[in-house]
Amino acid sequence: MRKQIVAGNWKMNKNVQESTELASEIVEKVKGLDLGNTRVIVTPTFVNISEVVKVTKGSAVEVAAQNMHQAKSGAFTGEISGEMLTSLGLKTVILGHSERREYFGETDAILAQKVDAALANGLEIVFCFGEVLAERKADKHFDVVESQIKNALFHLDAAAWKNIVLAYEPVWAIGTGETASPEQAQEMHAFIRKIVADKYNAEVANNVSILYGGSVNPGNAKEIFSKEDVDGGLIGGAALNSDNFLALIKSF
Ligand code: PGA
Repeated sequence: MRKQIVAGNWKMNKNVQESTELASEIVEKVKGLDLGNTRVIVTPTFVNISEVVKVTKGSAVEVAAQNMHQAKSGAFTGEISGEMLTSLGLKTVILGHSERREYFGETDAILAQKVDAALANGLEIVFCFGEVLAERKADKHFDVVESQIKNALFHLDAAAWKNIVLAYEPVWAIGTGETASPEQAQEMHAFIRKIVADKYNAEVANNVSILYGGSVNPGNAKEIFSKEDVDGGLIGGAALNSDNFLALIKSF
C-alpha cells in the first residue's frame, strides 16, 4: 500500500536555533499521534540539516534536503552533493521544485541528471512539477505535467520507482493563498497515475505516492487529502509553525 506523506518544505526560512526549535516541537507533538501509514518529513535549509537530524533522531520525523547537485564532487562552488546528504543520514531529497526551475534555471535535462545522481546515492526523490497560470488558462496543464515527468523520470526502469515520490505543485498555487480545488487536484493526480501506468504498469502507478503542493493549510487539507489519488502534501508556509503542521498531519 502506498504511503501517505506530509512533508514540510521550509525553503530559505529559519536560522539554526529556529530550525531546531521547530523540529523539536514537531517531534514532541508527533509523539502523541498514531501515524499509521503516514510519513512525516521536514526539510530545513542545508546549513541546518545536521542540527535538525540530531533533534529528530529516534523520532518518527524524517529529515530531507531541498535540493542537491548532480555531480559527485568537484569545483562547483556553493553546491551540495548527494553523498554529502547521505553522510548526514538523509534518505530523501526534493528535486525540481518550481522555485529551483524558475530562479535557478533548472531544466528538465538537468533534473534528469539530478534524479540519476540521487538514485545512485540511494536517495529517495520527492520530484516536483506543475504548470504556471498561463499554461492552465491555455488548457495546457496536462501536456506540461506529462512532459515534465517524462523528461526527468521516464528513462528510469520500473524498479527505480520505489524511490520516487511525485509532488504536483501548480505554480499559481504556491505561496499565493490560492489552492487548486480538491477536484482539480484529483483530476491531475489521476492523470499522473494513468501516464505512469501506461509507461510502466498498474503496480508501479498504484505504489507511487502523489503529493499535492500549493497553499495547503489546516483549513483546506482535509478535503484535498481525502481525494482518492492525493497521498499527502508538500507544504511551504503552513509547515513553518508546529501547530499548523500538526493539524495537517492530523488531516488524514
Ligand atoms: P506553499 O508552498 O505551501 O507555501 O504554497 C508549497 C511548496 O512550494 O512546496
